[in-house]
Amino acid sequence: MSLSGARAFDWSTLPAAYPAQYERLNESYGQVYTAAAERLVTVAGIGRGSTVVDVGAGSGFSAEIIARAIGRPGNLLAVDPSVAMLDRARERIYPCSIFFRAGRASDVHSIAASNGFSGCDAVLSSFTYYYTFHNRRSLHRAVHGILKPGGKWAFNLTKYLGALRIAGKVYNEFGDVYVDHLKSIAARHGIRHGDRNEEESDQFADTDWEVSELLAAGFTDIEVEAWALPMTPSAAFRFTLDGFYSHGSRVTFLPALMDLPIGNRIEIMREALTECSKELDSYPRPHIANLVAMRP
Ligand SMILES: C[S@@+](CC[C@H](N)C(=O)[O-])C[C@H]1O[C@@H](n2cnc3c(N)ncnc32)[C@H](O)[C@@H]1O
Repeated sequence: MSLSGARAFDWSTLPAAYPAQYERLNESYGQVYTAAAERLVTVAGIGRGSTVVDVGAGSGFSAEIIARAIGRPGNLLAVDPSVAMLDRARERIYPCSIFFRAGRASDVHSIAASNGFSGCDAVLSSFTYYYTFHNRRSLHRAVHGILKPGGKWAFNLTKYLGALRIAGKVYNEFGDVYVDHLKSIAARHGIRHGDRNEEESDQFADTDWEVSELLAAGFTDIEVEAWALPMTPSAAFRFTLDGFYSHGSRVTFLPALMDLPIGNRIEIMREALTECSKELDSYPRPHIANLVAMRP
């Protein structure tokens, strides 16, 4: 599988101004990052004195939540490829011992080993797993390799703009409403929209796939839950457009739009959203999936 647009995006070069924008997103959209991390910490049972690795720690929202749970006797390793995000993360106050390291999910095994985190109690990754799609099999194996027996791997599958099957039930059925409007707006702008990028829309569509990958990597006691985002469907689209999409980080729903400069592309996507917001909000809130697995 190849997702050239997403793969080409280099997270290590996020602009210095991005962390502030990222924090405004959290503020404007129901503290979504904070709430998601809180839920993962709870379902993973991360408690006082634990040793934890945060993969894709970003500007520190998830690290802060973990730090509060593990407290003074705890140890936390925060890993992220973006120096700008890590610089912001360093400014926070954490009530535990914490190390910040620049690196990607694919480096997590060596970073954990060289910083004394082999045999840790938990590895958590909030709102980041999606960006590791190209090597998630090796990520599961790497995480398995650094956990102690009984240790937990907790992450969320943040596909919330299109159908997602969680334990057999389908969530987020409003995705096609938006894509249909986007297609007609694109046509009005004289853009031959082509088809939706199926490669992208099929990504992470079913948590059963993830469960089988976790089992293959040697995990047991896998739990999957549906978790509702603190926002309506139309707000979820706005959240995405205001966030990483504005930095060209993702393949959009229609490949033809990717040929346009980012500003024009986002304008068309906003136009479609204005047109169908009411219809989108007749659907239930978007859900993501939380997964927790144990190394036996
Ligand atoms: C949406 S933020 C989540 C940050 C943090 N976990 C939180 O809850 O606020 C996603 C983060 O993933 C990081 N990221 C992107 N690709 C990554 C990769 N391959 N490995 C690890 N982190 C990655 C980005 O730099 C960004 O800081």
